[in-house]
Amino acid sequence: MGPIISHRPVTLAQVTSPAPAPRGPDDRFVPGRPARLVVLVSGGGSNLSALLEATRDPVYGAQVVAVGADREGTGGVAAAQAAGIPTFVERVGAYPSREEWDSALTAQVAAHEPDLVISAGFLKLCGRQFLERFDGRYVNTHNTLLPAFPGIHGPRDALEYGVKLAGATLFFVDAGIDTGVILAQVAVPVLDDDDVETLTERIKVAERAQLVEQVGRLAREGWHIEGRRVRLGTDTAG
Ligand code: GRF
Repeated sequence: MGPIISHRPVTLAQVTSPAPAPRGPDDRFVPGRPARLVVLVSGGGSNLSALLEATRDPVYGAQVVAVGADREGTGGVAAAQAAGIPTFVERVGAYPSREEWDSALTAQVAAHEPDLVISAGFLKLCGRQFLERFDGRYVNTHNTLLPAFPGIHGPRDALEYGVKLAGATLFFVDAGIDTGVILAQVAVPVLDDDDVETLTERIKVAERAQLVEQVGRLAREGWHIEGRRVRLGTDTAG
């Protein structure tokens, strides 16, 4: 069994009082406030927009405190700016090495003291520093039913393979490509006349709902990871 990583839940009474982020000595303890979300995007940001909509209700239990991108001009950053949320852009090409980019991205995200970092269509693999800093609280939504069809062409690959069920997977990111501990999955049918576009859109509708539901549950109930299982609602740290 792998390490146990635990996070305490917030209560509904706590979510109405956003506050700075007190943390315990293990940098994971989150008492008395809504979960702080930093969302990373590379594109249109429909997943981000769904989260922004959900977090308008204080009972949801989380707030988006910053949105970051790896490129200029994303719809995701524009949506965040329209909502008055701080944004940042860290381009790989702006740094002499991938490690320095990873370090800069880590610092940007860490400055917002996130309880959860959400890759919502963020098309970059983060490096060791980032993964260590946000271990057990960096989630990614992927548009296939993992472990099938990892990588950036998931719906296309699923369609070419001829599967009859497609879907989306929400998982905690590890050092592999789409190999992390799975939090949730949702399936959608593949229809006979689907093309990549129609299948991708059907997946995205289900994917957004799953992301909103699961992030809310993480925020309200807390979570811990035991090996390859995510347990909601139990704090083994006591
Ligand atoms: C999602 O379907 C995600 O799985 C994939 O990119 C899409 C992002 O969409 N990696 P959006 O930018 O949230 O609209």
